[in-house]
Amino acid sequence: MPRHIAIVMDGNGRWARKRFLPRFAGHKSGLNATRDIVQACSDLGIEALTLFAFSSENWKRPKLEVRLLMDLFASSLQKEMSRLHENNVRIRFIGDLSAFSGKLQELIAESERQTAGNTGLELSIAVNYGGRWDIVNAVQQISSALVDGTISKEQIDTDLVSSYMSLSDLPDPDLFIRTGGEQRISNFLLWQLAYTELYFSDTLWPDFDKAELQQALEAFSKRQRRYGKTGDQVEGNELNA
Ligand code: FPP
Repeated sequence: MPRHIAIVMDGNGRWARKRFLPRFAGHKSGLNATRDIVQACSDLGIEALTLFAFSSENWKRPKLEVRLLMDLFASSLQKEMSRLHENNVRIRFIGDLSAFSGKLQELIAESERQTAGNTGLELSIAVNYGGRWDIVNAVQQISSALVDGTISKEQIDTDLVSSYMSLSDLPDPDLFIRTGGEQRISNFLLWQLAYTELYFSDTLWPDFDKAELQQALEAFSKRQRRYGKTGDQVEGNELNA
């Protein structure tokens, strides 16, 4: 079982188009899928789930779609908070939040505050997030620490860099899922996905349900994670190890 799952929820627009509906109807339906998958992960005892809800590049979408998405984030946060809290889910947002309205930033901060003491699923929502932004952000902080003498150049190693990245307190994702048929990482967690198993599904996000999640988990359970070692070493086959 993966400890940490990261998901690119793609295909809302195409789901709507197939039904001759506006793109926004796809996002609303996508929200229902999101609710079910959060619940499923929580029920399965998955430790952490990280969802890509809005990338730094998504601002380039039509103004109306961006505005409706922001409204959807705000209203869903208000509506879903109590249930998430009851389910012991701890919620956090990653990304450059400064670009959002004061109201949305306040809702985000409130949801994080309210659930900070929860010990169940760690739900991270990436908004105005980009993997390169995350790395640049870490480099800037490390540079400041170098300049003010808190760290020395020799101390910079992968563990130190990791500690400056988003989600540094969580294990790196074991399983990455992207729905909607594209096989790309699209500037999601670049640093954190170094050894993650990648799983791509043709299913559009609004149709991604618990059974689809089970399929992804089953595929994951058959993968052999070698981290650069040989298969024999991983299997503890001493003669060839
Ligand atoms: C990608 O589909 C989806 C998004 C950019 C928005 C994701 C938002 C949700 C699933 C709704 C709510 C989520 C939370 C966490 C409150 P797309 O529009 O790129 O689809 P397409 O590739 O078919 O056009």
